Amino acid sequence: MSDLDGEPSVCAMTAEDLPAVLEIERLSFDDPWSERMFLDTLEAPVGQCRVLEVRGRIIGFLIGWSVAGEGHLLNVAVRPDERGKGFGRFLVNHWLMEGLEEGWTVAFLEVRPGNREAIGLYEDLGFITAGRRKSYYPNGEDALLMVWSPDSLRSGRQA
Ligand SMILES: CC(C)(COP(=O)(O)OP(=O)(O)OC[C@H]1O[C@@H](n2cnc3c(N)ncnc32)[C@H](O)[C@@H]1OP(=O)(O)O)[C@@H](O)C(=O)NCCC(=O)NCCS
Repeated sequence: MSDLDGEPSVCAMTAEDLPAVLEIERLSFDDPWSERMFLDTLEAPVGQCRVLEVRGRIIGFLIGWSVAGEGHLLNVAVRPDERGKGFGRFLVNHWLMEGLEEGWTVAFLEVRPGNREAIGLYEDLGFITAGRRKSYYPNGEDALLMVWSPDSLRSGRQA
């Protein structure tokens, strides 16, 4: 897909993308990933590192794992000044569609219980809350565990 006309496109992340990715990460999280954490996922064979571009500018990124027929969403963010325009949905949906092609039976993620924007996005795409991971985050906060399966498409959920 081309982004020359302002349409978003998803590309594999490279090390050259890291300055833009780190800027978005630091603008998005109180406890941002370090450059080393991004490099580790870029080097990992199971890592799925993607950037979202519009008119040649990186405005978002997504980091996932694909292991044994399962997807795990580790990190996703959109530039604050580009939020609420459907780009987050486009990016996560693209990741799920890649997973469908790989034959995933399930995808999961962790999210802070107070992150309404992210939870709203994930629910829109068919994720359901399946549990809670105690003291998951560095500050001791619990995480909600959310799960998606291809069945959510058959039951009419968008993805
Ligand atoms: C979560 C995030 C990636 C969403 O990206 P986005 O581009 O703003 O999302 P979209 O515009 O595609 O919105 C998709 C859906 O998310 C939900 N959503 C988005 N903003 C919302 C808000 N302020 N309140 C409630 N739901 C919201 C809605 O369901 C929305 O669908 P709609 O537009 O049809 O109502 C973005 O808010 C972000 O980068 N947040 C900071 C980083 C973060 O928290 N990442 C997730 C870690 S688990």
